[in-house]
Amino acid sequence: MYHMALIRRRAVPAAEWPYLEKEGFVKELLVLAGDGIGPEVCAQALRVVEVLIAKHQLEVRIENRAIGGASYDLCGTPLSDEVRTLAGEVDAVLVGAVGGPKWQDVSREKRPEAGLLELRKAMRTYINLRPAYCFDPLVDASSLKPDVIKGLNLIFVRELMGGVYFGEPRGVLQISAGVEKGFDTQVYTTPEIERIARAAFDLARQRQNRLVSVDKANVMESGVLWRAVVDRLHEGEYADVALTHMYADNCAMQLVRNPRQFDVILTDNLFGDILSDAAAMVTGSLGMLPSASLSDIGRPGLYEPIHGSAPDIAGQNLANPIATILSIGMALRWSLERPDLGKLVDDAVGKALARGARTRDLGGEMSTEDMGSAIVQAIGVAA
Ligand code: IPM
Ligand code: MG
Repeated sequence: MYHMALIRRRAVPAAEWPYLEKEGFVKELLVLAGDGIGPEVCAQALRVVEVLIAKHQLEVRIENRAIGGASYDLCGTPLSDEVRTLAGEVDAVLVGAVGGPKWQDVSREKRPEAGLLELRKAMRTYINLRPAYCFDPLVDASSLKPDVIKGLNLIFVRELMGGVYFGEPRGVLQISAGVEKGFDTQVYTTPEIERIARAAFDLARQRQNRLVSVDKANVMESGVLWRAVVDRLHEGEYADVALTHMYADNCAMQLVRNPRQFDVILTDNLFGDILSDAAAMVTGSLGMLPSASLSDIGRPGLYEPIHGSAPDIAGQNLANPIATILSIGMALRWSLERPDLGKLVDDAVGKALARGARTRDLGGEMSTEDMGSAIVQAIGVAA
């Protein structure tokens, strides 16, 4: 059983909620603000959490630690053993962002990004959910025409623990005088494909029951297997879900041509990374998209904005904190057992935007802190 079962449980009336005996337990949230704009956006997300604690009976204890370059500077590794252990013991982990030019000459296994990949692996979060949702007030912020994106509401289910990100062998080898060879391995096994496809089919059933599975079966052997496994699962267990297959390049094109055709999009690790950036921008700004990385049921979830560390604007109070705040919204739903507050947070973001709150990426003038204030204020009104 994996974490997605939580969705089904949410539909059960409160009296039958199987986790009721856990109510009153204080949850634990580990915050790893990281590098670049990470600390600024996490600070605003934490303001939101604090309001929920003070005004909405959220019971959560917060721990702060370093990850990525910040951790490397502190203790010579982008993910310390302490953080790795702690991440396995809390209920939810929030990551701000990792990476930046400061660490570009550090060896690959000590790079900030390696810390994040190691954390994902250690937490065994193989299900990466990346919703792309267009808030009505932002239809004009997209580079696409408003009538193409109005009402957009799709979600990526990205495989997060396998593929070319982790495949072996990999490396750079000298093969003759002056000639090197750089190589990576794209690899997926049947169980890896099955478990992520299952998550995607289940999620589709909770939504519009439509799933698009992305691969490059026309070129890649791993893509041939991917498609066959998804088809087999569809025939055997999910025949009620409308399934189509799409090549990754076509999917990129369709995302900018007519993104509203999608409901749930299933991808491997690399295609999901690339296509979700495109989808994010379609909604208006990379600063808007949250993500949840889930594992088997009962294990902690990992929550991150999908944008990076944006070193060019770091420390200037310019970054959009919405993706991080929406990531808290996802954590409230998936790990902290307060879906009601998850909705409150999403609604508050919508309200703040409707009132004209805009950071620079959205064409406005607001600072990171002011956007945080606008959302905190909207939560107050919603109470
Ligand atoms: C993401 C990021 C990461 C990834 C990097 C920072 C390792 O781009 O979460 O989309 O490639 O998965
Ligand atoms: Mg990415």
